[in-house]
Amino acid sequence: MINVSIVGGSGYVGGELLRLLLRHPDVTIQQVTSERLAGKPVSGPHPHLRGVTDLLFTSQTLLTRCDVLILALPHGSAAHNIDVFATLAPKIIDCSADFRLNNPADYVRWYGEAHPHPEWLPRFVYGLPELNRAAISDADYVSGVGCNATATTLALLPLVRAGIVAPTDVVVSDIKVGSSEGGAQSNDGSHHPERSGVVRSYAPTGHRHTAEVIQSTGLTNVHLSITSVELVRGAVAQVHCLPSTTTDEKSLWKAYRACYRDEPFVRIVRERGGIHRLPEPKLLSGTNMADVGFDLDPESGRIVSICAIDNLMKGAAGSAVQCLNLMCGIAERTSLDMIGLHPL
Ligand SMILES: NC(=O)c1ccc[n+]([C@@H]2O[C@H](COP(=O)([O-])OP(=O)(O)OC[C@H]3O[C@@H](n4cnc5c(N)ncnc54)[C@H](OP(=O)(O)O)[C@@H]3O)[C@@H](O)[C@H]2O)c1
Repeated sequence: MINVSIVGGSGYVGGELLRLLLRHPDVTIQQVTSERLAGKPVSGPHPHLRGVTDLLFTSQTLLTRCDVLILALPHGSAAHNIDVFATLAPKIIDCSADFRLNNPADYVRWYGEAHPHPEWLPRFVYGLPELNRAAISDADYVSGVGCNATATTLALLPLVRAGIVAPTDVVVSDIKVGSSEGGAQSNDGSHHPERSGVVRSYAPTGHRHTAEVIQSTGLTNVHLSITSVELVRGAVAQVHCLPSTTTDEKSLWKAYRACYRDEPFVRIVRERGGIHRLPEPKLLSGTNMADVGFDLDPESGRIVSICAIDNLMKGAAGSAVQCLNLMCGIAERTSLDMIGLHPL
């Protein structure tokens, strides 16, 4: 059995990690931390785990050595304390943005401050299995992937790999996101009368995950726009591409199939009829699936590539467990094979 400890276990990503790892046949959860709730049952902030586990939260100061440490802390916490965390486990998966970017200058540009430990950046592998499976399998340190970056990158990979979208082509990813992207801590914007029913432009330009998409795809003219909508879980990226060369539907099918034919957690969704013709996040709640589809405007040549995910699963905890499986030589689908709910 692999002993795993979760740091930041009282948050939404921590709750999903617990849900997945409590039923993982090769994992024992050793410790789960919360500073606020140390000594209290994990089923307090995660009531869906009532009767499933008797685990209690512990403080970070009481962490003991384990096989894999998963960090689900707010931005900055992992980076500042990485030297301490590295003494606690030979393998680390960090769900935050702290080790996603290779170039230290990108932290100044996109996060507004210098990285406190840039010497650690080359040691982390970017944890998107569909992009980096072999490197993740060999890695001791893996970073999580931004949920909006996951949806955008998975929508773009087939087009980039097939050369349908060139590095300087204009690409705009319009992403609708649910409220759980903001985590479990409330703020003015998450207050129910302010959040309920909104279609609110949250970050029309300048979203931080743009840096990850540029790094992952090699596209230099890619832009993200984020809108908060009436969802708790889920994100859908509609990625508008204006390629300099023309393409056709047959070439697009070929590109998407070549990219995702063998991927365990990516489905190509493009039906001719019915109401569920293209990817929808609602159908993916609680699953690790990414549904990817496309449409082509034959007159303008605009391609709209679409990817839907559950931000807490494929966008965070699900991908982290997928990476854990790869890093530990466990079958990749283990503990991640759940089917979605319909209707919901
Ligand atoms: N939510 C998403 O959709 C999503 C997707 C991808 C990646 N992520 C990333 O995953 C990480 C966790 O996200 P989340 O949504 O689970 O956040 P969250 O719900 O706010 O949970 C944050 C966790 O960190 C702990 N914490 C808060 N402040 C801390 C501090 N100063 N020092 C130590 N611990 C602290 C909290 O525990 P206590 O306060 O109880 O001690 C809690 O367990 C973030 O870096 C986020 O960017 C989130």
